[in-house]
Amino acid sequence: MHLLHPLTIIIALAAAIPSPSPPSISKSPAFRINANPPPSHPLSTIQNWNFSSYHISACSSRAVFSPNSTGRTFYANGTDAEFSSRTATLNTDGGTPPWPWGVSVAGPDEVDEEGRRSVSIACGRGTEGVQVAEWPGTVYYETGSWYVCNATLVYGPAMALFWRTKVERTPEGCVNVELQAWCVDGGGGVEHAFGRESTCYRAAL
Ligand SMILES: *[C@@H]1O[C@H](CO)[C@@H](O)[C@H](O)[C@H]1NC(C)=O
Ligand SMILES: *[C@@H]1O[C@H](CO)[C@@H](O)[C@H](O)[C@H]1NC(C)=O
Ligand SMILES: *[C@@H]1O[C@H](CO)[C@@H](O)[C@H](O)[C@H]1NC(C)=O
Ligand SMILES: *[C@@H]1O[C@H](CO)[C@@H](O)[C@H](O)[C@H]1NC(C)=O
Repeated sequence: MHLLHPLTIIIALAAAIPSPSPPSISKSPAFRINANPPPSHPLSTIQNWNFSSYHISACSSRAVFSPNSTGRTFYANGTDAEFSSRTATLNTDGGTPPWPWGVSVAGPDEVDEEGRRSVSIACGRGTEGVQVAEWPGTVYYETGSWYVCNATLVYGPAMALFWRTKVERTPEGCVNVELQAWCVDGGGGVEHAFGRESTCYRAAL
């Protein structure tokens, strides 16, 4: 009997299963953001859902992930000095005519009734230091982690985004997510004097 070397079998299997090419890393002044949870988690259904806004009041929306949504378009804003000192902000245009809104992380004294620090999109300046990493295009804030919970907001359940410090724990039932910036070409046609190119993922062709 002829025995196949295990490696031969692996190579044969790899050739038989077409695997999608990994995304490439690129640069763009504008990007959308999506959630990348670990695949085994019950909330992994939000994989690739886009960062959208959930209207709360005239000048404030909650950051949520929605299915069937192209999501908001974001850009990094600041001077070179602000980017190096990690005091630049993440903005998105809202309203008509478009007006800059900033991504804000609730402060340590602004936690919700469950002790969580929510993330909002609000008129005006966002939280300093919410930035896109030079590589490979993930959004970070200080040394903490982003997580998503199926939270009950004003109009019902939503997959809401929260942030915690490195030493805090992700609440039960919620999932840690990596926030990935995906390049958007064109950028919505709005000029941003202090916008700068960000690293972002681009689907392989
Ligand atoms: C996220 O947005 C992109 C385009 O901006 C779209 O192709 C994709 O289908 C969206 N994802 C979901 C889950 O709606
Ligand atoms: C998303 O779109 C698909 C196809 O149009 C639809 O079947 C599904 O119900 C939609 N999901 C939500 C949550 O709207
Ligand atoms: C963008 O950055 C510039 C330079 O710091 C600042 O003057 C401007 O207010 C920022 N815009 C927003 C919307 O945060
Ligand atoms: C969130 O919870 C509601 C019930 O509270 C449920 O209907 C919905 O399917 C959940 N969403 C996800 C994405 O698990």
